[in-house]
Parts: sequence; C-alpha cells; structure tokens
Amino acid sequence: MMAETNELEILEEPLFILESGDVYINPTEVKMCQLILPCHANHRGELSAGQLLKWMDTTACLSAERHANCPCVTVSVDDIDFERTISIGQVVNIKAKVNRAFNTSMEVGITITCEDPSSGTQWKVCNAFATFVAKGTGLGKVQLKPTVPRTSGEQMEYSIAAERRRMRLHHLETIKDLVSSSTIQEDPSGEEWQSAVPAGKTRVESIELVLPPHANHQSNTFGGQIMAWMESVAAISASRFCKGHPVLKTIDMFHFRGPSQVGDRINLKAIVNNAFKTSFEVGICAEAYHQEDWDRKTHINSAFLTYVMLGKDGELSTLPRIKPEPGDGERRYREASARKKIRLDRKYIISCKQTEVPLSVPWDPSNQVYLSYNNISALKMLAAKQNWVLNCTQNKAKLFTLEEGQFLSFKVEMSVSVNVKQVFTLLSDMSRRHEWDTHYQKFELIQKVDEDDVIYHVISPSVSKGSNFQDFVLLASRRVPCAVGDPYLIALRSVSLPAAPPTKDLVRSEVLCAGFTLWEEDDTHTKITYYIQATPGVLPYITRNITGLSADVCKVTEACIKFLELNKDIASVAL
Ligand code: COA
Repeated sequence: MMAETNELEILEEPLFILESGDVYINPTEVKMCQLILPCHANHRGELSAGQLLKWMDTTACLSAERHANCPCVTVSVDDIDFERTISIGQVVNIKAKVNRAFNTSMEVGITITCEDPSSGTQWKVCNAFATFVAKGTGLGKVQLKPTVPRTSGEQMEYSIAAERRRMRLHHLETIKDLVSSSTIQEDPSGEEWQSAVPAGKTRVESIELVLPPHANHQSNTFGGQIMAWMESVAAISASRFCKGHPVLKTIDMFHFRGPSQVGDRINLKAIVNNAFKTSFEVGICAEAYHQEDWDRKTHINSAFLTYVMLGKDGELSTLPRIKPEPGDGERRYREASARKKIRLDRKYIISCKQTEVPLSVPWDPSNQVYLSYNNISALKMLAAKQNWVLNCTQNKAKLFTLEEGQFLSFKVEMSVSVNVKQVFTLLSDMSRRHEWDTHYQKFELIQKVDEDDVIYHVISPSVSKGSNFQDFVLLASRRVPCAVGDPYLIALRSVSLPAAPPTKDLVRSEVLCAGFTLWEEDDTHTKITYYIQATPGVLPYITRNITGLSADVCKVTEACIKFLELNKDIASVAL
C-alpha cells in the first residue's frame, strides 16, 4: 500500500527525552503486532483487507479509549489506498495514537508497517486516520480533555488534524455537489454494450448476526467488524463481475451513521456500479435490523471500493464494461464516474509529498477541497519546521531562513498593536495587498470559490533587473482557529486555470507555499509570521542578493505594520 513508501523510508521520529531523563512515549500510543497466518489470508495467500481493517480499528479504538478513559466507537475512517499486499508469514505492525481531541471526537493516526522475518526487511505500508467518539455510560455526550502534543511530529499532526476534520465534516456534502455537477463519461459504443456485463449479475446480498465477539463490552458492534463484513461482500460482487479474484485498490471514506448492537442483524448489499478500463467500483451498503423491533432498520454505512484485476504477469487486465440497471443503477453508474475523477485528484494532490506536488496544480471543482487542504496543510508543515536560522533583525521584524534540499524558505516575524481578528480581516483581503506590498502591482479576482477560498491573478515586478513583469495565479485559503490557542491562517499557493492562461508579455511564476499565521498575544496585540518557500526558479537571485532581500523584507514589513495600524478601525471584525 502507498506507492511512495519502501524499505528505506521508515523514518522513526527522533527520541524525545523528558526532563527526568526518560524517553517520552505518547500516553495514547498502542501497538499491535500480528503474524499473518492462512486464516487471515485470501486464496492468493495475501492478508485480506477486511482482517487488516479489523486490526486497525481495534488498535485505534484502544488508543482512543486510553485518552477518553471510557469506551469509544468509530465514527469514520478516511480514504485508504492499498498499493502493496502483505503475505502469509510476514508480520504486520500497527501503531495508533490520538493526534488530537476536539469536543466529543478525536482523530487517531494509524501507521502500518510490515516486516519479513526471514530477510529482516521492513517497509512502511500506509498511514490512515480514524475518528472516534467517546461513549460514556450515560446518555449524554462526553466532553474530552484536550491532547497536549509534545514532540515536533505530534505538534504538526495536531495542527493538521484540524484541517483533516474540516474536510471530513464537509465530505458528504462535497461529494454530493461534485457528483451532481460533474460531466459524465461517454456511454459505451454499441459494440461495447453487447459485451457489457449486466450489473444485476453482480448483485450480492448477505446477512450477519452480531454476536458478543463482534462487539465491545457495552455491546456496540466494532466498526472494524462492520468494515470487514462489508469488504468481504463487496469482494464477492467484484469477483462475479470479472470472473476471477480481483485486488482491492482503494476504499473511500467509511462513515458510521448509526450504531448497532449485539443481537442486531446486519444486512449487506453490494453491486458493481461502474467499470472503467482497468478498475471498477463496487458500492456496498450496510443496514441494521434491530432485535427489539425487526421492522426498524437503520442505514449504518455505505462505502465504495475500487478493485483491479491482475493478469498472470501481474499486469492490469482490461475489463469488460458494465450495463447498469435502469433507474437507480444508471444514477450509481454516473456517480461512480464522478467519484473516480475525485479519487484521482485526491491521490494526486494529497498522497504526494509536498515536494512532489507540481507547483501549479490545475484547479477545478472536483479537486477544490483537496487543493484547499493542501494549501493549508503545506503552510502548517512549513510553520512546524524546527531548524529556522535567524538571519537578521531589522526594526520590528526578524528574518529567518531554512535550507532543505532544493528549497530555501523564509520566515518573517513581527508584532503589531492590532487585534488579531482585525489583522486577519485586513491581510486576507487580497485586493488591499498592493497598499502595503510593492510586489503586488496589479490584482484581479478571478473566482470566489467559497467564503474561505479565492483565486486571484497578480502582476508583480520581476525579481531580476531588466526582465519582463511576472504574474501569478494564486489560491488564497483562510481559516479561523479550530480551538482556543490555534492561530488564524492565510495560505497561498499557485494553481493553473484556463480562465487565466500565461501571456507572452508576462513571465508566469509560481509559489509552492506561502502565507501568514496570526497568533493572538492579547486583545490588542498580534504576532504575525509570514512564510514563503522559494521555488528553484528564484533561488539564484535570492542567494546572490540576501542583503538586498533583507532590506526589501524590512521595507515591506514596515509598510504592512503601518497599513494594519492605520486601517484597524475600519476592518470588519464580523467573522
Ligand atoms: N467524520 C468524523 N467526525 C464526525 C463525522 C464524520 N463523518 N460526523 C460527525 N463527526 C463528529 C462531530 O464532529 C462531533 O465531534 P466533536 O464533538 O468533537 O465536534 C461528533 O462526531 C459527534 O457528532 P454529532 O453531530 O454531535 O453527533 P451525531 O448525533 O451525528 O452522532 C455518532 C454521532 C457518532 C454518535 C453517531 O453517528 C453514531 O452513533 N454512529 C455510529 C457509531 C458506531 O457505533 N460505530 C461503530 C460501528 S457500528
């Protein structure tokens, strides 16, 4: 799983030594270690995805319960990409820890590695994130105590967890909007229809009785058990379609809408929704029939799993088309096409390492939510870096630099006598940036994506003398704090957009990551930190002219402080 990981990339966080001299271990950390036996494997001798999901859920749940001090239930598990399989005889290591507690829910980060005891090699398999809610003994909600991140890795996960939560909570709505507005794949030609598999042939229905071993000590069914049942029914539907044993590639987010208990019957229904050239989507739905009233049924979960079929040589096989059933089947067929596009975009933007994401990702509605996430999380990651070197102090500003591989990053810290909400309002209004930043000579709003994201075009003087003016197409994403103690954020990154193509008069330039973090010092003071990651294109100029850059930064900083202090009273504080 996760293509970018291999034997060389298991990077353990450096040890964090406490004042007592002891090595710090996160108090919520839980580890599970399992030897893969034939009973855990499918007919190919590979660990079944359902079994892995069960172990992941159990480990994560025990970690959540360590933090909550009471029983917890699974609310959701984020999308998972399966890129590598695990075989009989190998050992799977699962490590879970609570990244952040919100109000009643918490995000648990799960890391899965695999080892081959015969060769001693180890490799990282994947990372996953699950959300749990504490379920006390009474009926009321359980308010969780906050988590306190200690190491730099924990601080980064804590910070980005807020952004992942935002994405999760909007997930259903986002997918619905995208599916309803997406353009649909062309229907197959007459010839393809003739060889198409009727979707009805892939329909599977199965039932499970929830018994005590499937549930916790409060009789709530384990989320991992439901996921495992769903995966095994989906696999039957998938094998009916391709007349063989396909391989699971991805699972879209699982969301547990309602609970089920010991004694309930879980009805599972699966069908192939659509087939593409080499992959196909199976939809699976789980409903609970409650023992106290058999007529009462609750829809507890729906999921979409993507499979591929491998030939003898391990190459992807070309698949037949599917002929959807009229009505609902046709709707699912079209929705599956839209989800495929969303999945590809997500993988492209989110699964890549920051340094591998192309500078200007094409913007479109199907990747908007992931680009916005990427924009904010890149800024948070840059802000969490540890080895900044103080370069100079000029008046009220401090300039730091950080060299990492091919990237050189800058950080400017300053303090202003202005309330943080006013600073946020003024700095996130990109149409006013030219008032203090001479690099923003011309500004044009291209698209207001939503309340927190805008795309704009800016023209600025060239960094090197005698060259043409440069232009940028930037996505600006802003966030108010998720909880007390979090900063306000304004993140910027380049995107490309057909509405703003490069022109021959201007040099199209790019920003990978830039932005502001704003920390409230008190009611009338704000600490502003500005970050920018210099792209390889401007590095030669910057490294030749670090003194010029410091003077420039100093000038812009002074202008920014002046602008904020002058305009603070007219800044709207209605956020
Ligand atoms: N992903 C992540 N978190 C989610 C979420 C999702 N899709 N939907 C809701 N949440 C979070 C909310 O943010 C909230 O957390 P917060 O208090 O920290 O802000 C928390 O879940 C509760 O949400 P809320 O809307 O107040 O409650 P609800 O009435 O929708 O109930 C559950 C939420 C989890 C209690 C309910 O959906 C449930 O019982 N689900 C089944 C859980 C279960 O039994 N799982 C095991 C397998 S059956």
